[in-house]
Amino acid sequence: MADIQRTVVLIKPDGIQRDLLGEIVGRFERKGLKIVAMKFIHLTDDMLEEHYAHHASKPFFAGLKKFMMQTPVCAMVLEGLDAIESVRKVVGATNPRAADAGTIRADLAMNVPSNLIHASDSPDASASEVKRFFKDDELFRYEKITDRYQFGEGI
Ligand code: RTP
Ligand code: MG
Repeated sequence: MADIQRTVVLIKPDGIQRDLLGEIVGRFERKGLKIVAMKFIHLTDDMLEEHYAHHASKPFFAGLKKFMMQTPVCAMVLEGLDAIESVRKVVGATNPRAADAGTIRADLAMNVPSNLIHASDSPDASASEVKRFFKDDELFRYEKITDRYQFGEGI
């Protein structure tokens, strides 16, 4: 059984610089994910220390943080059936050159850390990222006439 989940996506500074916001958001919309929150955030060093804590000891950590602060990022919460895994499939592998054709990273990027997107990788990560980046009143509940096709029995 599929679950309705929420997942956090950040469009990274390379996506903003390369004018790919519309293209990327469009791919998530066409998949049928519901945008329940969306805003620009200029990430701080503290936010990135927490968000990328799993990379704190890596040699690329300082460069990664600097890159993520070059412009605001576009942060969103997407809702859908098994949204965490569904979004990561649409996004593709971390290294865009190894990502499957048809994914956002394979089609639109070539480099790391400039791989356009962050997406939550587990329910725990999604829950803490929603809290890290959004206030309760920035998350919206609303019905769309397409919900029955994308979220319900599918008929
Ligand atoms: P993300 O968290 O951004 O969705 O990406 P991911 O799960 O596919 O990859 P993760 O291992 O969590 O790494 C987070 C981001 O750090 C940068 N990175 N650079 N230079 C490197 O070897 C390296 N490795 C990772 C990438 O921007 C990656 O998306
Ligand atoms: Mg990750």
